[in-house]
Amino acid sequence: MMPGADSRFDGDWLALREAADHTARSDALAGRLAERLARRAPLRVLDLGAGTGSNLRWLAPRLPGPQDWLLLDHDAELLDRAQVLAAPVSRDDRPTRVEARCADLAELSPELFEGLDLMTASALFDLVSASWLEQLADCIASAGAAALFALTVDGRRGFVDAAGRALIDDADRWMVRQFNAHQLRAKGLGRALGPAAASALPEALTAAGLRVFTERADWRLAAGEPQNGPLAQALIADWSQAVEEQSPESKAQVAAWRDRRLATLEAGRIGLYVGHVDVLALPEAP
Ligand SMILES: C[S@@+](CC[C@H](N)C(=O)[O-])C[C@H]1O[C@@H](n2cnc3c(N)ncnc32)[C@H](O)[C@@H]1O
Repeated sequence: MMPGADSRFDGDWLALREAADHTARSDALAGRLAERLARRAPLRVLDLGAGTGSNLRWLAPRLPGPQDWLLLDHDAELLDRAQVLAAPVSRDDRPTRVEARCADLAELSPELFEGLDLMTASALFDLVSASWLEQLADCIASAGAAALFALTVDGRRGFVDAAGRALIDDADRWMVRQFNAHQLRAKGLGRALGPAAASALPEALTAAGLRVFTERADWRLAAGEPQNGPLAQALIADWSQAVEEQSPESKAQVAAWRDRRLATLEAGRIGLYVGHVDVLALPEAP
């Protein structure tokens, strides 16, 4: 869902996407991270743009030992939602202590990096600028922390048929190009990278001297599965709205595309995919 001009996200949208996010994420990268962090306790974790805590709910149970999480976001309502949900326990049933801080990512204070074991975020980096990202990578490297950044969109999106084969026509391709162009609009942290974040993120972390591993983490919403319907419908609606903003003169063309794709979705003839990458960055072993 597109954020508002002030980069606020709807908590119901975050709830709607949570199951698809969790299914898509790379267990292999989390496993490699867990191995690396095994001897640190309690783990000090900072979750940037934490929203309602989806990343905490997925990642904390995959990491070992007691954990202290700080959830940072500029949206107090989302953080309130995160705090009413039960804190998960670690992989080995140790407690997770969760604090929330309402703050703007534009100003990351140096104190946040002190004693930090893990910097993490999910579904964030398409919103940020290249220079913000480079600064963050340098701060992570200087702190000697690890980083796990999940679900950065990479610009691939489209439909599949009932057998899971790609099903993309010229109208879809035009819609993808327009949508990806819309993603570049500034969202409070400079000119947004949009889908370029998927390559800029590992590049910045590598340039900062970290060892970087990436895996695909795509949403795959198969055709004809009722549990995928609400998210797939919301994606098509959001996609159309972004393209209408990007190309106002094409309103009728966008509406025709939306109605056609919604009808085939509801008939169970198409599913949807959205490309993402997960990125793990580790400091050189001490
Ligand atoms: C797409 S949501 C992802 C939320 C959460 N990480 C998840 O995976 O569900 C992006 C989050 O970044 C936060 N955000 C965006 N710009 C921000 C900024 N300048 N400062 C702090 N938080 C920001 C939003 O409030 C939102 O919670």
